[in-house]
Amino acid sequence: MTFDDQDYLLRYPMIERVLISSEDITRRIRQLGNEISRDYQGSTPIFVCILKGAYPFLADLTRCVSVEHEVDFMAVSSYDGGVQSTGVVKIEKDLKANITDRDVVLVEDIIDTGLTISYLVDMLQTRNPRSIRVASLLDKKAARKKEVPLHYVGFEIPKEFVIGYGLDYDEKFRNLPFIGIMKA
Ligand code: IMP
Repeated sequence: MTFDDQDYLLRYPMIERVLISSEDITRRIRQLGNEISRDYQGSTPIFVCILKGAYPFLADLTRCVSVEHEVDFMAVSSYDGGVQSTGVVKIEKDLKANITDRDVVLVEDIIDTGLTISYLVDMLQTRNPRSIRVASLLDKKAARKKEVPLHYVGFEIPKEFVIGYGLDYDEKFRNLPFIGIMKA
């Protein structure tokens, strides 16, 4: 844990503990960036950030990607401010780019039930991209209701509600540099 992580812990007493430190996140994202750069040699992939939660991951990941690429953004809502999945996915903001014949990398913060990402993959497949792969910082495998192929995963985590590094509770705590667990 860095000094910065400890400083945040002191300032946010509602956080119980750090699950993944900012140093570990940085190290793992560098590895994922290298892997993606190798896999997409000769292509110009388009990284699609799923807002809001994936914005820090997109920013850090793409800075570790050495192949030429583009970024675009989609906003979806699947949770209604709380901690339970509703299973309903609403597209709040669609892509600007045309993804037909493009290599697409969907960038997610966390795959929980899998409902959101499987809906998105199916929806984007209808636009005839050359390929779609999913990069998710976190994978809560034990919570899965729908199987989805994940190509790039940062960390597998237990079935606990986490906050930080883009992930929110009631729109707060996205700014934390680490992944943390809140006090019950
Ligand atoms: P899924 O459809 O259940 O896979 O949920 C995906 C979305 O739910 C993520 O993109 C997050 O926005 C949100 N989510 C799932 N688990 C957590 C969590 O532990 N903390 C914060 N948000 C979460």
